[in-house]
Amino acid sequence: MDILKYQSDFLSYLRTKKLVKEPKNLYEPIDYILQIGGKRIRPMLTLMASDIFSGDYKKAMPAALAVEVFHNFTLVHDDIMDDAPLRRGHKTVHEKWDINTGILSGDAMLILAYQYFENYEPIVFQKLAKLFSKTALEVCDGQQLDVDFETRNDVTIAEYIKMITLKTSVLVAAALKMGAIVADASEEQAQHLYNYGLNLGIAFQLQDDYLDTYGNPENFGKQVGGDIMENKKTFLYLKALEVSNTSDKEKLLQFYSKKQKNNTENNIEKVGTVSAIFTRNNIPEYTHQLIEYYTNKSFESLAYLKISQQAKDGLLMFGKNLMSRKV
Ligand code: IPE
Ligand code: IPE
Ligand code: MG
Ligand code: MG
Ligand code: MG
Repeated sequence: MDILKYQSDFLSYLRTKKLVKEPKNLYEPIDYILQIGGKRIRPMLTLMASDIFSGDYKKAMPAALAVEVFHNFTLVHDDIMDDAPLRRGHKTVHEKWDINTGILSGDAMLILAYQYFENYEPIVFQKLAKLFSKTALEVCDGQQLDVDFETRNDVTIAEYIKMITLKTSVLVAAALKMGAIVADASEEQAQHLYNYGLNLGIAFQLQDDYLDTYGNPENFGKQVGGDIMENKKTFLYLKALEVSNTSDKEKLLQFYSKKQKNNTENNIEKVGTVSAIFTRNNIPEYTHQLIEYYTNKSFESLAYLKISQQAKDGLLMFGKNLMSRKV
């Protein structure tokens, strides 16, 4: 199983799609966000899942594209909500164009994603659409909780895990399950693969939160420190509140009680002081431990899968690689 082949085949498929048409101001931003890069993790998972169960992953291309277009739609709207200037090393859509463009191009991408399912016969179409609708609503739930948590100071780590499960993991899990659906796997087997993705997705978002503070600005592609600026109640912050002394704890609560204007000196000071508090309280170590915990938990699902050892090794390798990613 050649994991990188899924990525390159997906990129070739994406290039064959004509995304730009009239009105240009609606479709150019869609083409822009889809072409400026990204790891393509979710479509790779859809193709890999389909390959595992049927040996024919090309059939899963439209589903893989649906997942990637939906993911990119969530990013366009997420960047508006998070006031993010940078994505994949380029300007975010609402910065390059404006907020209204980001809203409508995002909406169109959501519809486009659904449309790609029309490539499948009615039974498969219905299964895909049903899973997709459920997943998309859960992502909205998670995104709303993420925003609600910005102004709450009593968020627990359990609530945080629930929130990231909704905003991020369910899509990783659904990407896999869609591949299994296209390959006509049994519901039971598809569900075990879903559970693998659910735990892997939690580890993935924990790593995303870690990189938001500790990523290398040279190649991270997003604004480092954005979560701190936005008062995001990440695991890093919540764990720091739990383990730090009274003085650090008071500083954290003080910094997270208000927002600074973007890119001001105050914001730079906030990010510097908060990340120093995280570091001296060993938060990177705690975060790595939790990432490892959820990655290993995801691997437990592999035991229930009636697939080749080679396929299990592929899923294992995929999870391990995600754990050490730098972008
Ligand atoms: C970013 O997802 C949003 C999260 C759910 C963490 P990715 O890290 O997969 O972003 P790209 O597609 O590779 O840019
Ligand atoms: C994003 O979480 C989750 C979704 C887009 C649904 P983040 O806000 O942490 O993602 P990034 O860091 O901007 O990619
Ligand atoms: Mg966000
Ligand atoms: Mg964001
Ligand atoms: Mg993030």
